[in-house]
Order: sequence, then C-alpha cells, then structure tokens
Amino acid sequence: MRFFILILICLYANISIGQTIFNIQIPEKKIIISKHIYGHFAEHLGRCIYDGIYVGENSKIPNINGVRIDIIKALKDLKIPNLRWPGGCFADYYHWKDGIGPKKERPSIVNIAWGGESEDNSFGTHDFLNLCEELKTEPFISANIGTGSVKEVMDWIQYTKHEGNSPMADLRRKNDRELPWDVKFWGVGNETWGCGGMMTPEFYSNKYRLYSSFMTNRQNNNKIYRIAAGAYGENYNWTEVLLKNIPKKLIEAISLHYYTTAFGVIGAEKNPPGSAIDFSEKDYFMTIKSAIKIEEIIKKHISIMDKYDKDQKIDLVVDEWGSWYGEEIGTKPRFLFQQNTIRDAMIAGATLNIFNNHANRVKIANLAQAVNVLQALILTKDEKIILTPTYHVFKLYSIHQDAQLLDLKFDSPVYKYKSESIKAINASASRDKDGNYHVSLVNLDNKNSHETLFKLSKHSIKNVSIKIVTSKKLNDHNTFERNDLIKTTSFKDFIFSNSNLSFKIPPHSLMLIKLIK
Ligand code: AHR
Repeated sequence: MRFFILILICLYANISIGQTIFNIQIPEKKIIISKHIYGHFAEHLGRCIYDGIYVGENSKIPNINGVRIDIIKALKDLKIPNLRWPGGCFADYYHWKDGIGPKKERPSIVNIAWGGESEDNSFGTHDFLNLCEELKTEPFISANIGTGSVKEVMDWIQYTKHEGNSPMADLRRKNDRELPWDVKFWGVGNETWGCGGMMTPEFYSNKYRLYSSFMTNRQNNNKIYRIAAGAYGENYNWTEVLLKNIPKKLIEAISLHYYTTAFGVIGAEKNPPGSAIDFSEKDYFMTIKSAIKIEEIIKKHISIMDKYDKDQKIDLVVDEWGSWYGEEIGTKPRFLFQQNTIRDAMIAGATLNIFNNHANRVKIANLAQAVNVLQALILTKDEKIILTPTYHVFKLYSIHQDAQLLDLKFDSPVYKYKSESIKAINASASRDKDGNYHVSLVNLDNKNSHETLFKLSKHSIKNVSIKIVTSKKLNDHNTFERNDLIKTTSFKDFIFSNSNLSFKIPPHSLMLIKLIK
C-alpha cells in the first residue's frame, strides 16, 4: 500500500523513483566564491619550473622571457587567479638574492629538498613576477623562515613592493625594474611542522609572531596578507595552538595542506605506493574516499577558527592539495612526476565543489602542482604539451570565480564498494553577474549512472546547456600521442520542460550545467 502511495506521489510530482532531486536556493547571506580558490602552485621541484614552465630564452620552444608560450596561453585560458612560488619544501632553502641580477652571474644551488640536482637560478624573482604580470595573476610568495632570516624576508618585501628610494628598491631599479610589483600574498614558512623546520606549534607560533611583525605595511604602500603555515590534514592541535598564540593583528590567514591518496598519510618525507594509471576499482574507491574527506577536515579546522576568531576575520588557505601517487616508473626519483586520469578529474571536481561550499572561510587554494608534478594541469615533453583531465575541470569551473554561492539541496544516492559506501554525487552552484546559475555536478560512482531532476519553477530559467568531462575507462588519460582522449564535450541528453530539468549523469563523470535566465 505504502509503495502504491509513493508511486502516486511520484507520478503527481513528475518524479521517477531513484531520482535525485535538486533544489536551488539563494542564501540570505551573500557569500562570494573567491576566485583565489582556483589558484595554482609552481615549486622548484622536478620538472615544474626548469624543463617545464621555464625553458630559457635560447630554447627553440617558443617562449616569452624563457617561459613557454603554450603554457602561458593554457594558464590564461583558465583565468588563473594566483600562483604560489617558490615552494613547498624548496621555499625554506631558497635565498632570493641568489636569483636576481644578470643570469650568468647567479650562483648555482643544489635543490636539497627535491632530487638533489643543481639549478642555475635562471628563474628568480623577476622571472616569476614578470610571469605573473603576463598571466594577470596575483603572485603568492612563500617566504623562507627555515634557513633564512627576518632581514632577508623584509628585504624581499621591500625589493618587490617599495615605490620610493630604499636600498632594496634601488637594487631592483639597478636590475632594470623601475616600478614595484604588487605582491600581496606572503606565506610565513611552509610545513613548519615537517620539511620547514620540524617545529612544535608553540615554537612556530613564536617564530611567526617575530617574522610577521616585521612583514608590515609600514614600509610599503599596499597591503600584505600574511599566511601562517598551517596544519596537515587532521592535525587540529596545530590550528588550535597557532590561533591561541598569534595576535589577530599579525595574521590574515592560516593554511591547510591535504593530499589525496589511496594509501594513508603521505608528505614530503614519504612517497606513497600506487600508480597514477594502473589502479584497481578498490584503489579508485579508496582514493575518492580520501579526496572527499577534506570536507570533514575543513569543517573541523573552521570550527576551531570560529572559537578563536568569532568575527571570521582570518581566512583559511588550502595552499597545497591534490592527488599524490607513486612516481611514474622511469622518471627521476623525488621529481614526483605522475600521469592524470579521469580519477583525478573526479578528485578536482569534488574538492573544488567542497571549497566553493565553504567559501565563507576558504578564500585561497592552490592545486599541487601546475606543471609536471603531482596532480598537474599540464604535462610537457620537449615541444609537446598535454592538458590533463584536471585542466579541463579547472577550465569548466572557472565560471565560479567571484560568483555568488548558491544553496543546493539534495540527498545523494550512495556509491558502494563491498561493505563501504560514500555519497555518489557531489555538487556546488553559483550565480554570475548576469543572474545565470552554474551547477558543477560530479558522479563519483564508477559503475552506476544516476537520474537527476532539477526543480526550477521558482527561478524563471529559459534555457539550459550542459558540458561534460568523462571517459569510458577509469584509467583513461591523455598522452603525448593522443592528447584529446579526455576533453570537454557538450551533453545533449537532457529534458528541459515545465521548469524541470532531468537527465542521467553517467558513471565517473563531471558536468557543468548552465541555467540561463
Ligand atoms: O607539493 C609537494 C610537497 O608537498 C611540497 O613541497 C611540500 O610542501 C609538501 O609536503
């Protein structure tokens, strides 16, 4: 009898059993999804900078000041909002004065953090900041507090930001740059609990107080946004101690690092097992489960922040995230080169949805890393490049940058693997300046498609368009021989009538739905 009544209700409401019903609401409090959630990271690690982004002025590969033109174009197409540099772990070994002045006179250094090879410092502060200008992206510099000094960081700030006369501004002019660059984002160390100095939170809090008091706006005309080196994953005590001990006037944001892996805790000291392309269904499930765990982690860090910062003045900056698998066989150890499959597209889509949905606190995020390292956007080999599945996700999601967050209500079906289950559908939505809505929808389930129904009667939607990123097999990926196996295509298999939008989202696929007013 109950079943019969359910059928009647469904028929009346134009719903089919098993459909996931989505309701969009405009929240009372206006929250903007900061464009900086869509930020990237370029570390002196493996082939990210050298033999990646930077090939040198004399390369036969077309370049602007040594930076590949194809990479510049690809990053511009993403509307890249900010770029973090020079590390990562490398940052706490980096002495910026080694990387300025005539290139021939710059000293070579050993990259102790990554791979132990020498690099000639031909990509330094000017090269990075000029690249950011070319990309129209905001630079984000991670300052060295591990092997550097307070004076060195003060000098770097003055060199990059000071307009008037001063020793560092004059040195900049001597190096052919009259006007300062606008560097707002400054990380105060990196992973100071690990590769950045193995500090305790109490020790780092004090060190942070010292450094940040000298990273002031007083010597410059424009603002500095100081980011305290935050916790890895579930280390909630780190956030607690920092927020308890750092005066509010010294901090604009605290960071969080979290990597996705099928195999438990990882990091700079320990490379995980497992391959980016040869993986089982179980590996897929475990990796996706690990990726979406970031939501619980973000919520718990935010609840600690709410305790110490009731007015929500301090931002959460997830300045390293992404998938981390074992290095590709045949590549150099500690260069962290890995391929990128549709699994990574799922990770990117779900994680960015989670950031969007917590946009009231999460203001900046940086995928690790832009080129040839970990969950890269772009892979290079001589004159060729590949845009990875992750790249295509960022391109679709760029529409959320600086848009208004919408509330999306739905009950996700489950995605099961043996006795374990997680939510199959992950989504976020925003409204652009013209009033159009954009919903990014991910079906993490690798076996089942899911029926969806968007009830839009309250929103006077006139038209719909849907783009999709998907593939036949879970380990499909783009290669230098076939670089368009995974790409964005139009999805036409939907019904839009009587203010209802319905379709089936295929397994392991990601959609960007545009609801046009
Ligand atoms: O992104 C690779 C490394 O991961 C970074 O250098 C470090 O900060 C983290 O452990």
